[in-house]
Amino acid sequence: MITPQTIQQITSRIDIIDVVGEFVKLKKRGTNYLGNCPFHNEKSPSFTVSPAKEIYKCFGCGKSGNTITFLMEHEKYSYVEALRWLAARYNIEIEETETSPAQKIAQQTADSLYAINHFAMDFFTKQYWDTEAGATIAQSYMQHRGFLRPIVEKFKIGYNPSDRDSLAKALIQNQFNPELFARTGLVVERNGEWQDNYRDRIIFPIHNTTGKIIGFGARQIAKNDRSPKYINTPENEIYVKSRILYGSYFARTAIDKANECLLVEGYTDVVSLHQAGIENVVASGGTSLTIDQLRLVKKYTQNLTIIYDGDAAGVKAALRGLDMALEEGLNVQLVLIPDNEDPDSYVNKVGADAFRDFVQSAKKDFILFQLEVQLKEVGNDLNKKNSLVNQMAETLSKINKAEDFTKLQEYVRKCADILRIDETGLTQLVNKFKRDKIVKEEKKMAYDEAAILMPSFQNETQELNNIDLVLDKDLLHEKNLVRLLIEYGNELLEDGRLASTWIAEELESFPLDNPDMIQLVKVYFEWQSEGKMPNNKTLQYHVDPQIQQLVMGLFEPEHELSLRWNEKLGIKKIVADVTFHHDIEVSLLYYKLRKIKKMIRQNQDDMEKISGEEQIQLLHIHKHLKDAERELTQIIGTVIFK
Ligand code: CTP
Ligand code: MN
Repeated sequence: MITPQTIQQITSRIDIIDVVGEFVKLKKRGTNYLGNCPFHNEKSPSFTVSPAKEIYKCFGCGKSGNTITFLMEHEKYSYVEALRWLAARYNIEIEETETSPAQKIAQQTADSLYAINHFAMDFFTKQYWDTEAGATIAQSYMQHRGFLRPIVEKFKIGYNPSDRDSLAKALIQNQFNPELFARTGLVVERNGEWQDNYRDRIIFPIHNTTGKIIGFGARQIAKNDRSPKYINTPENEIYVKSRILYGSYFARTAIDKANECLLVEGYTDVVSLHQAGIENVVASGGTSLTIDQLRLVKKYTQNLTIIYDGDAAGVKAALRGLDMALEEGLNVQLVLIPDNEDPDSYVNKVGADAFRDFVQSAKKDFILFQLEVQLKEVGNDLNKKNSLVNQMAETLSKINKAEDFTKLQEYVRKCADILRIDETGLTQLVNKFKRDKIVKEEKKMAYDEAAILMPSFQNETQELNNIDLVLDKDLLHEKNLVRLLIEYGNELLEDGRLASTWIAEELESFPLDNPDMIQLVKVYFEWQSEGKMPNNKTLQYHVDPQIQQLVMGLFEPEHELSLRWNEKLGIKKIVADVTFHHDIEVSLLYYKLRKIKKMIRQNQDDMEKISGEEQIQLLHIHKHLKDAERELTQIIGTVIFK
């Protein structure tokens, strides 16, 4: 954790014109500055930055915020990453609290790995451009494949010569720590000495989203069946394959603008498409997509277009990611490149314009594509058809966000049509899968709670763990609600009230338990009554560092919170502002349900302690609470399935 003092130091140094000006060309207009909005396409500038108020606002698309939110939106940084960026810019040393020795070592290792990689990248590009072997072997190979100088330079592509240890020697000479060499994968130890691992290969550095080099892909130049075509960096502290999409650093802005991310398999596909002016493209490295990769895409856009060679293996690999993509709410389209070509060779063959046209016309919906492929395999076998229908229904049940409801209906209609089955029947089947999933999760929750109520069930330590778990879950709901209050409290409801009023009323009947959350809500309404506009942006700069920390805690591990929310409840955090109403509604329902369950537990405890008249009273309360619980559960059912 960055200390509050450091955060204050950073926020006091922020110069919004300086920071935003780094990414947007700004011109002075009166007291403000004006530029073309980086968040949407526009010809005449409507993006206004106010140095006095330290905020920006676009009168075209409505985006607004402060310096930190600008970095978060534009650079896709987390709150902490944005702070680090600013600290580096203003030469502020970051003080951290509570880093354990293990965390410190991990951080130092990561820093050293970045440094080695950076050095290696420089080394490889020098070899590529400034040596005889680079010119005759590497440059001519790349030229032959149609890669021109500007694109090779942009992607920092390089060359590792065929000598036994040219890079190894350079690393040792520059006094990098040999203990980390093996982990970088750049060199290997043979017979007690360090040797280069990527000999005579073209080197593709892999940038993370902030531009640091986390690893390399090394392609052989001379065809050699005894060694693999590509050698990649082994998993280490900074290279985690499941989280990497090659090219994401260079594609960010283009994906934002196009509101679409193209996904290809290979390094050369990304580079070639870039060269052809198609920049919203990333590569998965030829394996099935992981949930982390899908989330990375989703930071930029909901629209994912997978462009693969027509060969069966690649498509199969791609299909494996499908259900996860649906759960993430992504719209997935598929384009198959014909004639044994891949995107790289195809764009070189037909040219940029024809390639674009082809992608547009060949786009197929991923779900319907999968259905058609499988339907062919089924033929006339009724049993097989039955299981295909079930499988399709299960796939469709993964589309479970409220705002995706129309999309789901559309799919049900089309799938029923293709399968030649009754649409209502398919809808019912899809709903059954949805319900099953929720029931399963409810059961798991009930199980956790039962373990608390029946201590004999488990031994002591486990019991303690479970109490932690439940307490934690309660806190999760409270945090979620307070986050919604801060995020959407200033929004107007249809009846003209503020969303914050709605939440405040509910909190009166079902008060918060966590002292931190109580404190935050208090501050929120204090600000509101003083006429200040409390929201996540403003509260982050609250004079009390503890409040800053709390607000940061709610928004910074955003990912984690919504992830767990999703896991625990089987519903999604709804991102779009338009659905804040539904988000608050569902969150309140779950929040209240937890409070009631807790009251039921407490009431049961009390009942065990007393007898007679008083016990009958408590029984009445029990019945009353149970009714309320049932009613809430029913409402939750209709809200989710509506
Ligand atoms: N790949 C890999 N290891 C291999 C082969 C492939 O990691 N031995 C990954 C690489 O990321 C590669 C991608 O899978 O870019 C696709 O493989 P392939 O189609 O064989 O290579 P291309 O990217 O087309 O490379 P090139 O055009 O240079 O043949
Ligand atoms: Mn290729």
